[in-house]
Amino acid sequence: MSTAFCPVSIKVLLGVSGGIAAYKAAELVRRLGERGAEVRVVMTAAARSFMTPLTLQALSGHEVRCDLLDPGAEAGMDHIELARWADLVLVAPATADLMARLAAGLADDLLTTLALATTAPLVLAPAMNHRMWRHPATQENLARLQDRGVRILGPAQGDQACGEQGPGRMLEPDEILDALALGTLSSGIGPRLAGRRVLITAGPTREALDPVRYISNRSSGHMGYALAGSLAARGAEVVVVSGPSALAAPHGVELVPVESALEMEAAVMARIGDCDLFVAAAAVSDYRPQAPARQKIKKDQTELNLRLVKNPDILAQVAALVQGPFTVGFAAETQDLEAHARTKLTAKGLDMIAANLVGGETGGFDRAENALLVLWPGGRRSLPLSPKARLADALADLIVERYLAQAPSQDS
Ligand code: PMT
Repeated sequence: MSTAFCPVSIKVLLGVSGGIAAYKAAELVRRLGERGAEVRVVMTAAARSFMTPLTLQALSGHEVRCDLLDPGAEAGMDHIELARWADLVLVAPATADLMARLAAGLADDLLTTLALATTAPLVLAPAMNHRMWRHPATQENLARLQDRGVRILGPAQGDQACGEQGPGRMLEPDEILDALALGTLSSGIGPRLAGRRVLITAGPTREALDPVRYISNRSSGHMGYALAGSLAARGAEVVVVSGPSALAAPHGVELVPVESALEMEAAVMARIGDCDLFVAAAAVSDYRPQAPARQKIKKDQTELNLRLVKNPDILAQVAALVQGPFTVGFAAETQDLEAHARTKLTAKGLDMIAANLVGGETGGFDRAENALLVLWPGGRRSLPLSPKARLADALADLIVERYLAQAPSQDS
């Protein structure tokens, strides 16, 4: 268990929603304080049936906020100020109802309003009956929240207050704090990537054949968007340059939509100058039609020959920049994963590459799950098959670890 103290106080807004696990909020506030965090608490109406605001006020040293429309409280630090104040918003316990309201983007009480108004990373520690947790509605809400970059800690398996067993128990306060890595969240400057700018490419590109047709690939954007959310949750300012995707930008992430490889190249090169990290998760079309037809191509010929020209390699260009950012590539392969990925790592001069097998039954393009083999000069780590949001968290931790190992002076 890490008990690292934060030399500079992290401002944690603790949201407490109404479940039996609300009693653990008192311990959480105390533990956060012990680790040097400054804590302010917001409770939902239901939470007050399980725990009194007075207890959390005494432990946090600040008035506990409960109501959105409270003229007295709003005259002090109003809810927008409170949303701006937070470095991290942690909701523990997060009930099924609260997750549903967050997933729907409701702002029907103070806590949900703050969650919409803040740009700080949002972390939830769910707690509920195991059937409620497994219910498709809750799982859909979970997936929506994770797609937006919300970090989920737990729930744990085990005995439940209702006498049943299964997944749904809120993590213990120390487990939550260890998972948040508050000690490393703050190596003196707040979250590990606070103040760092990250540029990520995601999704496919479309290469026009004529005004209505294009060449593209099966990338959905899920992997890149999930990684953008995970890096934003670690405090970075994240911009995603994305080809066409049905996904919404994760919470706190700026989205720059593009269509073709040339547009993606222009958007990346215009922004790369002030970036600390670059991650190329997009499936960029390697070739484009040399001369897209101005009008719709008619089907009056028995054969149609397309002349394709090579697109610029965006990742290689960024990696070649003098004093460029820490650069992470992806490798999508159908065979000899490690050998091909290591060749790309070396040939393009990357700091790290995340390789995945594509075209099979599991993982890769347009699937909910993926597995990655991550390589860097002198090292490798396998990240096993798991939902892309979870995998993105593991990859983000590895990127942060390698980045900070290479740039120790920036972390002081
Ligand atoms: O979007 P999903 O459905 O979630 O699927 C995720 C994914 C399979 C697309 C993702 O995990 C992935 O592997 N992305 C990289 C796909 C790819 O184009 O791989 P590649 O091996 O062909 O390219 C190597 C690297 O060079 C990649 O980082 C790619 O972004 C980059 N590249 C390639 C060509 C090019 N012209 N410019 C580039 O920047």
